[in-house]
Amino acid sequence: MISWDEYKEEGTIPVATPAPVVEAAQTALQETEKKAEAPVVEAVLEAVVAEAAAPITDTLDTAGFENKSDIDPSIAENIANAADVIANMDVTAGLEELEISGQRIEVDQKRMINCRADLNQLVPFKYDWAWQKYLDGCANHWMPQEVNMNADIALWKSEDGLSEDERLIIMRSLGYFSTADSLVANNLALAIYRLITNPECRQYILRQAFEEAIHTHAYQYCIESLGMDEGEVFNMYREVPSVAKKASWSLSKTHSICDPSFSTGTPETDQELLRNLIGFYAVTEGIFFYCGFTQILSMGRRNKMTGVAEQFQYILRDESMHLNFGIDVINQIKLENPHLWSEAFQEEVIQMILEGTQIEIEYARDTMPRGVLGMNAKMMEGYLQFIANRRLAQLGLPEQFPGAQNPFPWMSEIMDLRKEKNFFETRVIEYQTGGALTWD
Ligand SMILES: [Fe+2]
Ligand SMILES: [Fe+2]
Repeated sequence: MISWDEYKEEGTIPVATPAPVVEAAQTALQETEKKAEAPVVEAVLEAVVAEAAAPITDTLDTAGFENKSDIDPSIAENIANAADVIANMDVTAGLEELEISGQRIEVDQKRMINCRADLNQLVPFKYDWAWQKYLDGCANHWMPQEVNMNADIALWKSEDGLSEDERLIIMRSLGYFSTADSLVANNLALAIYRLITNPECRQYILRQAFEEAIHTHAYQYCIESLGMDEGEVFNMYREVPSVAKKASWSLSKTHSICDPSFSTGTPETDQELLRNLIGFYAVTEGIFFYCGFTQILSMGRRNKMTGVAEQFQYILRDESMHLNFGIDVINQIKLENPHLWSEAFQEEVIQMILEGTQIEIEYARDTMPRGVLGMNAKMMEGYLQFIANRRLAQLGLPEQFPGAQNPFPWMSEIMDLRKEKNFFETRVIEYQTGGALTWD
């Protein structure tokens, strides 16, 4: 553990005592430098290049190694070979796409897609919001094991603590989410990361990908803690129609751009990337997660399965930021490439949002055959229409469900849909230590 006390005074940074072998190496290097009167690396390289045909021992001797007879011949040969390769290295190899003597990156050269400027230079930032989301995501770091699951285990194993309808909701939620977050992570790592050509956005995408891994970990942790049939839960996305339909719809939006030969650069391929971003950020993470989140959080508010509910609340906080990031990326691409946002394409996007809403409404009906936890499928339908309007508005499209109201105002207290940004701005400090959440 690092203690900042050790770094109070400049120049007094404690240094570990060198081990004998390190001391010997340092002495040898100093000797070499003295003899060659040149930096040690140069001495080694010059010696190796000049004496390429000479015996290894001569090379080591020239390079300044003392006690050469103590060095294992195979090790000595490896060292000499490595030095030889570095001496003859072509500095431009692997950097063909970059202009070695080209100008430094100007912020105006940065673009969300199809950028030709150097992607390895994080600064200067063009999209400060992306960097800020990366910082906020890091400040919100949490791990599933921090959540106490004891009460959940006792309740899940009790005979009469939960109704069959409540058990169905828990099973379906873990069944859907345990694989859904893997689909999102795969799409990020195998498609989106490569195609978004902006380093600060890529930095956030890496953070998001890790958060998706934590979410999958959290679901697995719940499933394991409760002693569920893992085969049944993890195969639900292939075996239960209402779950399978959601996974299948998401997967249909990732097939083409996950192909390693896919690239953007034409209006058609750029729109295909937009289709993917909308399918994953606005629909999968922006609609498909909401019935399950609402059901599980409602359970937590009733002091049931509070550990699972706490995990879901942390995940919902992360997901809200994923959604907002995705919406910002999509809108930035629209701004930089207005020709992509044609009327026909806008109609297609509206259709995608409507399809996603319909699939989630069907999921709500399947998971709530009757009223449970103070809600029912009809109320959830209204809520999903309210959410769909919100997604359409975020994308600059007309609402499709006039007058839809939020029947679950308490969800807004947990995650205020109208003030998502403010939610994080005002609460980020509280969450930094991953402390316990309250349900009042
Ligand atoms: Fe996630
Ligand atoms: Fe996510």
